[in-house]
Amino acid sequence: MSRTTAIASLLILPFAYGGAAAQDSALELGERIYVDKCEYCHGDGVQKGGTFMLEARYEGELPALLTERTNLTPEYITATLRTWTNGMAPFRPTEISDSELEALVAYLTRNNE
Ligand code: HEC
Repeated sequence: MSRTTAIASLLILPFAYGGAAAQDSALELGERIYVDKCEYCHGDGVQKGGTFMLEARYEGELPALLTERTNLTPEYITATLRTWTNGMAPFRPTEISDSELEALVAYLTRNNE
């Protein structure tokens, strides 16, 4: 098991009772939250502030779309969402709960090596 797989399994433990099916549902939940709470800034298209800023920051070295990144770590995502860091206003636990955050992390790290 790779380190990333190990981390991903740990993160989806609350959902893990049904094995692979449960992992799918953690990813589905993560995707749903992403569409709901992140895409209006991080989606593809005009007037998406997050995508625009990341495009300017990385100048093509990394994808501007978070859904295409393969180097976001659980720690980095958590820090970005919970503390005022990496240029983005944080979300409170009342806006995105800890378990929703875990599902988001599972979704955004799904293609990591
Ligand atoms: C109101 C707009 C907005 C929303 C909503 C938003 N973001 Fe962001 N996010 C930004 C901006 C702007 C940046 C980049 C700032 C910069 O480059 O200075 C950013 C940066 C990030 C980064 C850091 C990327 C990097 O390479 O450093 C992550 C991770 C991230 N956002 C995740 C999320 C997730 C997950 C959600 C949904 C829960 C979300 N964001 C919702 C605006 C937003």
